[in-house]
This record gives sequence, structure tokens and C-alpha cells, in this order.
Amino acid sequence: MIVAPSMLASDFSHLSDEIRRIDIAGADWVHLDAMDGHFVPNLTFGPPVISSMRPYTDKPFDVHLMIDEPIQYIPQFRKAGADIITFHLEAASDPDAVIQAISDGGAKPSVAIKPGTPVDAVLPYLDRLYMVLVMTVEPGFGGQKFMPNMLSKVRVIKQKRPDVLVEVDGGINDVTAKEAARAGVNVLVAGTSVFGAKDAAAAISSLKNSDRTL
Ligand code: DX5
Ligand code: ZN
Repeated sequence: MIVAPSMLASDFSHLSDEIRRIDIAGADWVHLDAMDGHFVPNLTFGPPVISSMRPYTDKPFDVHLMIDEPIQYIPQFRKAGADIITFHLEAASDPDAVIQAISDGGAKPSVAIKPGTPVDAVLPYLDRLYMVLVMTVEPGFGGQKFMPNMLSKVRVIKQKRPDVLVEVDGGINDVTAKEAARAGVNVLVAGTSVFGAKDAAAAISSLKNSDRTL
């Protein structure tokens, strides 16, 4: 299991310390949520802030774009240090072109779907994707409750294309991580349950082992 702590739950006034802390605590990837205030009713950060975090870890940057028509910003996010770029299918008028732009820039392409989007919408793109992000809450905010019925989407994707990674994001903790692992999830995003834990290393290690006791 790959564990990607979400910096959305970190202390933004100490980003370099927070990123080093989760690196040392065993994070596999760093999950970065870019929100535009249009696609989701919240604003976070963009390429300049991501680029300022880049020197503090060698771990892959897993960038989750919650922005309308992301295509024009792909080169900037890549230049800022994104290794995996996830965009929302619902936000792109030409998803093929966005996948192409991500691949052309040398990053790994990934598509996210909101809870209300059926899994069928993503199936035509699986051949060209490194990963699919199945949202397990409505995108926009941390600390929400996990939606277990989203895991049927994970099963469909893994059945069709076992080699495409599936990531879940929203409400992931020790308990929901095990449910996700049983459905075939490869990557767990966790904000509150890692940054809110007394011992981040223990929290990450328990998430990493969520597929060991199926
Ligand atoms: C929500 C973001 C998540 C968020 C998850 O739109 O995509 O990455 O940080 O937070 P938790 O783990 O607290 O649900
Ligand atoms: Zn996210």
C-alpha cells in the first residue's frame, strides 16, 4: 500500500517542517491539493507554493488539481515539481488533451472522479492512465466522512485494468483503510488521520499495513 499524506491538513505556516516530518515518518508520496474556488468552494495553493516545498523531500509529489479547465496550468504544475498529476474528469472539456499534456510534460497522468460521477465515465481513458483517483468525499475540504459505497467503483476499475493504480481520498483512517484495501486500492491519501495523530509515523505505518490483514 502506498500512503500519501495530504498537506491540506498540515500547518501552512511551517510547510518545510511539515513536509520533512512526514517524509521521516515514512510517507511514500506527498499529496498536494490545488483548489481554485470555482471547481470547488475553497482555495488553497498553486505552483509557486508547490515549488517552494519541492527542495524539502525527494518523495514523489502527487498533485490533485481541483481546478476548472486544468489544461492551461499543466506545464506550471510540472515545472513546480509535480510527479503525478491528477485532474477531475468533471472539470475538463477535453480530457484526452489534458492526459496528453501531462504525459508530454513527463509527469504521470491520473484522473479523479467525484462521488456523483459514475465509474463508467473513466473507463474509456484507462489505457492512457497511470492512476485513477476515486473520491470518497466531496472534494474541497478535509475532515469529512468516508463514503463506503464508492468502493464499488474501485472494484470495477481493478477488474478491468489491474495494472492501473487506484487511489482513494477523503475520510481515510485505520478502519476505512482496511475497507479500501479489501476493494483493491493501491494508494491511500490521508490528511486528518496523519497530521492530527500524536505519532505520525505510527499512523502512516498502520495505513501502510492496511492490506496485510485482509
Ligand atoms: C479533499 C482533498 C483531500 C483532503 C483529505 O478535497 O482532496 O486530499 O486533504 O482530507 P481527510 O484525509 O482529512 O479526509
Ligand atoms: Zn486530494
